[in-house]
Amino acid sequence: MKQFDYLVLGSGIAGLTFALKVAPQGRVAIVTKKDRAESNTNYAQGGIASVTSQEDSFESHVRDTLAAGAGLCKEKVVRTIVEEGPACIAELIELGMKFSEREIPATPGALELDLGKEGGHSKRRILHAKDVTGREIERALLDAVSHQPNIEIFENHIAIDLITSQKLGYVGANRCLGAYVFDKKNNCVTTFSAPVTVLATGGCGKVYLYTTNPDIATGDGVAMAYRAGASIANMEFVQFHPTCLYHPNAKSFLISEAVRGEGGVLKTLNGQEFMDAVHPMKSLAPRDIVARAIDSEMKKSGADCVHLDITHKSAKFIIERFPNIYSTCLRYGIDITKEPIPVVPAAHYQCGGVVTNVDGATDIAGLFAVGEAACTGLHGANRLASNSLLEALVCAHRAAANIMASPPDKSELKIPLWQSGQATNADELVVVAHNWDEIRRLMWDYVGIVRTNKRLQRAQKRIANLQEEIHEYYWNFIVTADLLELRNIATVAELIVRCALVRPESRGLNYNLDFPNPNPEWAQRDSVVRRAP
Ligand code: FAD
Ligand code: SIN
Repeated sequence: MKQFDYLVLGSGIAGLTFALKVAPQGRVAIVTKKDRAESNTNYAQGGIASVTSQEDSFESHVRDTLAAGAGLCKEKVVRTIVEEGPACIAELIELGMKFSEREIPATPGALELDLGKEGGHSKRRILHAKDVTGREIERALLDAVSHQPNIEIFENHIAIDLITSQKLGYVGANRCLGAYVFDKKNNCVTTFSAPVTVLATGGCGKVYLYTTNPDIATGDGVAMAYRAGASIANMEFVQFHPTCLYHPNAKSFLISEAVRGEGGVLKTLNGQEFMDAVHPMKSLAPRDIVARAIDSEMKKSGADCVHLDITHKSAKFIIERFPNIYSTCLRYGIDITKEPIPVVPAAHYQCGGVVTNVDGATDIAGLFAVGEAACTGLHGANRLASNSLLEALVCAHRAAANIMASPPDKSELKIPLWQSGQATNADELVVVAHNWDEIRRLMWDYVGIVRTNKRLQRAQKRIANLQEEIHEYYWNFIVTADLLELRNIATVAELIVRCALVRPESRGLNYNLDFPNPNPEWAQRDSVVRRAP
C-alpha cells in the first residue's frame, strides 16, 4: 500500500500541470502507463489557442468556440477558459516553455510570439513551437517536475480501477479513496491510497482502427470513472481529424491543420479543389465539416485518400515552419515542398468524457478529471482546433487551486489489498489481440464519421458479446496490460454507441443519416450515461 496526498493518473499536460501546482502542499504520485513523456500531449503539433495579440479579443475566441461547438457548448465555461488562458500560458512560459517567435515587422531585432491559424479560428491565435508544440510542452513540464522533491513518478504503471467507498460497502456519499495499479515491470498490483485522485488519462483514439493517437489512448480514465459510478457525457462526439498521413508504413502521423492555416489546400487526386463548394472557409472550415467532405469525396470517387497541397509556398518557409512534418514525410518518400501530401481522416479527439465542472470536480467526492478525459462543456458537439491543450492547462490550474482552498475529506477508510486471479491461459494473447482488432474495426465501419441507427444497433450487439468474453477473461486470469486496455476500449466503445443512440439528431461531430438535421430540443442537452447501480 502506497499513501500520498494526491494521486495523479497520467503525465500529459493535464496531469503534470496539476502535480506541479499542488506539490508545494503535499506529496504527489504521478502514475503513468509508459515512459513519462508518452502521451497525446507529446504529439501535439498545431499549438495552444489563446488570445495574446492586440488584434484579437476574448469575444472573438469565445464566438469561434461556440460556433464550432454547434450549440452545445456551455458558454460560461467557454468564457472562463478563454479568459484565464493567457495567465496560465504566461506561467507555462515562466516554467521554461519556448514558443516560436518572429521578428516584429516594424521593429527590426524585436521579437513577438509567432501566431498560427487553424480551422474555425477567425484570427491568428495559436501559440506553437514550430510543429512540435507538444514535445516542447512535455519537455518543459517534466523538467520542472524533476526539480520538485514532493513529486514521485511511477512509469510503466497502469491504473486498473478506482477504489471507492461505495464499492467497499461503506455507507454515506460515494468517495474515491485511490486506485489499484498494475506494475508492468514487476507484474504485480499495488494499492495507491489518496484523498484526492485526478484522472488525467487523456482520450480514446485507439477505439478506432485509424487514429492520430499514440497507443496510450485507450480511454482508461473514462472507463474507470464509469465503473466507479461517475456520470459520463457526450461520448458520441468523436472528432475525426481531416488530415492524417496516408501511407502504408506510417502509423498515426498527423498533418497539422496549421498546414492549411498557412495556405495548404485540399484537392482530389485529379487536382480539383473541392472545399470551395462546401463552406465559405474552404479548407479551413471547422473539422467536422472538412472531415465529412473528405469522406464524401473519397466515397464518391472510390479513391483511398485526398491530397493536401502546400507546394505553392516556398521550400524555405515549409521546412522552417513544419520541420517535423517535412522530415517525416520525406522518410516516406514524399517531398512536401514539391508534391501534395496524401491524407485521410482519422479518429483524433474525444469531446465527451467524465462529467466535471470547470474546476475538474466529478460527481464522486475526491475524484477529479482534467484534460481530454473530462467533459467540461468547453467543446460542445465539436472542439475548436487547439482548444484542448488550453482546456487541460486552465482546468488543471483551477482544479489545483480549488482543492488546495477547500481540501476534501481526509478521514481514512480501510482499503483491502488487490486479490489476484490465479489462472494463466496460453491462448490468451491471441484472443485479446483478436478482440482488440474486432472492436477497432467495427467502430470504424459502424460508428465512424457517418452513422445510421441500424449500424449503431449492430455495433451495440457485437460489443455486448465481446464484453461478455472479456469479462470472463478478466475475472479468471492474471491481469496483463493488454487485457486491461481491451476491457477499457470495449467499455468506451459501448459508451460512444450508447450516447450516439441517445441523441436523435445530427449535430457537430455526430452525423446520423436517420436524423440528418439538428433537433432544437437537443440544442442544450448533453447525452449523459451512468452505470446502473
Ligand atoms: P494525454 O496527454 O493524452 O496524457 C494522458 C496520460 O495518461 C499519458 O501519460 C498516459 O500514459 C496516461 N494514462 C492513460 N491511461 C492510464 C492508466 N490506465 N494508468 C496510468 N496512466 C495512464 N490539441 C491541441 O490543443 N493542439 C494541438 O496542436 C494538438 N495536436 C494534436 C496532435 C496529435 C497527433 C494528437 C494525438 C492530439 C493533438 N491534440 C492537440 C490534442 C491534445 O494533444 C490532447 O487532447 C491533450 O494533449 C490531452 O492532454 P491530457 O493531459 O489530457 O492527456
Ligand atoms: C493539429 O495540429 O492539426 C492538431 C490541432 C488540434 O488537434 O487541436
